[in-house]
Amino acid sequence: MPPVTPDAPGEGTPRGTAAGKAGRWGSLARQALAGERESRGAPGSRATMCELYSKQDTLALRRKHIGPSCKVFFAADPIKIVRAQGQYMFDERGEQYLDCINNVAHVGHCHPEVVTAALKQMELLNTNSRFLHDNIVEYARRLSATLPETLSVCYFTNSGSEANDLALRLARQFRGHQDVITLDHAYHGHLSSLIEISPYKFRKGKDVKKEFVHVAPTPDTYRGKYREDHADPAGAYADEVKKIIEEAHNSGRKIAAFIAESMQSCGGQIIPPAGYFQKVAEYVHRAGGVFIADEVQVGFGRVGKHFWSFQMHGEDFVPDIVTMGKPMGNGHPMACVVTTKEIAEAFSSSGMEYFNTYGGNPVSSAIGLAVLNVIESEDLQGNATRVGDYLTELLNKQKAKHTLIGDIRGIGLFIGIDLVKDQQKRTPATDEAQHVIYKMKEKQVLLSADGPHRNVLKIKPPMCFTEEDAKFMVDQLDEILTVVEEAIGARSESVTSENTPCRTKNCFFT
Ligand SMILES: Cc1ncc(COP(=O)(O)O)c(C=O)c1O
Repeated sequence: MPPVTPDAPGEGTPRGTAAGKAGRWGSLARQALAGERESRGAPGSRATMCELYSKQDTLALRRKHIGPSCKVFFAADPIKIVRAQGQYMFDERGEQYLDCINNVAHVGHCHPEVVTAALKQMELLNTNSRFLHDNIVEYARRLSATLPETLSVCYFTNSGSEANDLALRLARQFRGHQDVITLDHAYHGHLSSLIEISPYKFRKGKDVKKEFVHVAPTPDTYRGKYREDHADPAGAYADEVKKIIEEAHNSGRKIAAFIAESMQSCGGQIIPPAGYFQKVAEYVHRAGGVFIADEVQVGFGRVGKHFWSFQMHGEDFVPDIVTMGKPMGNGHPMACVVTTKEIAEAFSSSGMEYFNTYGGNPVSSAIGLAVLNVIESEDLQGNATRVGDYLTELLNKQKAKHTLIGDIRGIGLFIGIDLVKDQQKRTPATDEAQHVIYKMKEKQVLLSADGPHRNVLKIKPPMCFTEEDAKFMVDQLDEILTVVEEAIGARSESVTSENTPCRTKNCFFT
């Protein structure tokens, strides 16, 4: 990847004192960047700009000053990361890790085009969206072009949580209803309003489910209520939502919204069966509610063929509200809610202004535009399809070899490996999954385990992930699983045929 090469000082800025100042501050920023680049040549030296403290001191300061509920990856042996580029992260000793989980660094960590866009706009202006500025409208125009025509009105926020909170407000204002249907194991953000609709969270804590929240079963055809052997899992899961609506109506309640990730991430990399969302949308609309698609994790081309994951369900499915975040700013805090003109007008009819100090500021918008440009210019959707297919193929070969692998599911660069103790019973292999991710870390591959049983290895790397990376990751996994299975005596000569079709391909989307 080429290094960052910012333009000449003050280029493109208006002349005059302010511009002169912008140029001076800009050159300071450039010096800082140049220093950083030089320091990268000497990994391991704390004298570089990468590290202020020894790892031990960093840990001690973190324990003292950072809230204990803010967890680190690999808590038993945390990693200190000081820089990153593309799909690689580097620790304080200069050791390189292959990043298989960071869907925020969507176009690659520290992508030079994104860094340059931020730097150039920061030299020029950053302010709130109450002033007219071209970046916000250009970004909104470009973003809308990726969505179905009806989704054309944007509200910018700083995080996925803010976006989902606002989506709930839009939905509730639109029809005057209050209740929300959410999926089991869902996570939609850390604000109080979202913990309330996130079983992933409220089931773990002491919170109880609020009466306006209704939890529908996750449409998980591997471990859920209706599985791949069911004649119509999409219909059966959608009927559960219909039943919830009827029960709510019988007790005098009214549905404002159904919210779901287009593919459930924290819930265990779950891909809803084809046709499920259409049926749910029909029932929810009939009840006077709206459909909110949470694309915070899975949007911006991760599934390859489509820019948005909900688009896998076909052109006849269009959500009323889409929320997005993480990959949008490639690490810069930037998120958005997109909705229809009708819902936006209902929201403004309350007379209350929506103002967000940082949402859609010129720097965030410039960064967002750079991310869109890179997705296009580097054909990252094509890459997600190619590398994702290759990786899925390699993983299915592993499934044929290892009893610990119960299921491989995924699309593009969003893949889950469901580890089981028993292939028939599908008993989650939670401890084994934890062991595997620590062993992968020793082999300098970063993976995480999630899902309700924390047994699903999640793969959602930066979109510049290559076939070589995929092969390397799978080779390491193969070695580790072989050792683990030998230790527990689980290795079987023939688990399933290598020709066993991938469930994902057969039952769901192609
Ligand atoms: C599906 C989903 N929605 C919303 C959020 C909240 O986003 P943020 O952490 O940016 O507030 C997350 C965060 O992990 C998420 O996974």
